[in-house]
Amino acid sequence: MQVNSIKFFVDTADVAAIRELNDLGMVDGVTTNPSLILKSGRNILEVTREICDIVSGPVSAEVVATDAKEMIAEGMKLAKIAKNIAIKVPLTWAGLTACKAFASEGHMVNVTLCFSAAQAILAAKAGATFISPFIGRLDDNNFDGTDLIEDIRIVYDNYDTRTQILAASIRSVNHIVDCAKIGADVVTAPPAVIKAMANHILTDKGLEVFLADWAKTGQKIL
Ligand code: E4P
Repeated sequence: MQVNSIKFFVDTADVAAIRELNDLGMVDGVTTNPSLILKSGRNILEVTREICDIVSGPVSAEVVATDAKEMIAEGMKLAKIAKNIAIKVPLTWAGLTACKAFASEGHMVNVTLCFSAAQAILAAKAGATFISPFIGRLDDNNFDGTDLIEDIRIVYDNYDTRTQILAASIRSVNHIVDCAKIGADVVTAPPAVIKAMANHILTDKGLEVFLADWAKTGQKIL
């Protein structure tokens, strides 16, 4: 079933957490990075392959070289893991060079570590499939992360830019709602933040009252 909504990528290399949310139909893709691979304690090639077996949407796997030639070699190796790999490159000139090379070969590319609209324009021109502006890290440094999502949305819409805005470094449920209001194409969030979207104090209180009243009726449905 096709659902028209903001896309959810899960920002983790924790296979069990991905599987749990995927079973609920909440996963449109996955993003990983070197820190998340470290946290998983797994080998990058093995864990990425396992994730690609679970999720049919784009799975971002990040290169770690800093020069373009080596990035291209690493990205080509990562792309061989599965058809749904999006090669993740940093927003540097070397990363943009590699992005252009990957895009010309028909690979999906996620340009990461974006902190300005200027950088987002360059990524689009280099053929990025996704641009990843980091909201939380901007907020941590007293900038406004969601302002950046808004700026990129305006700039991309002015030219019908095909690159998708993948709002990253999500710290809260409010970040996700703000991104959806602005019209980001995708959010990538830790599993705990996606699960927290279901929580509301009034839901809990309301359920408590309904269950107490139901007990007083002495009835059973089953
Ligand atoms: C994005 O692709 C990154 O993996 C991620 O969102 C970074 O988030 P952090 O700032 O919480 O590390």
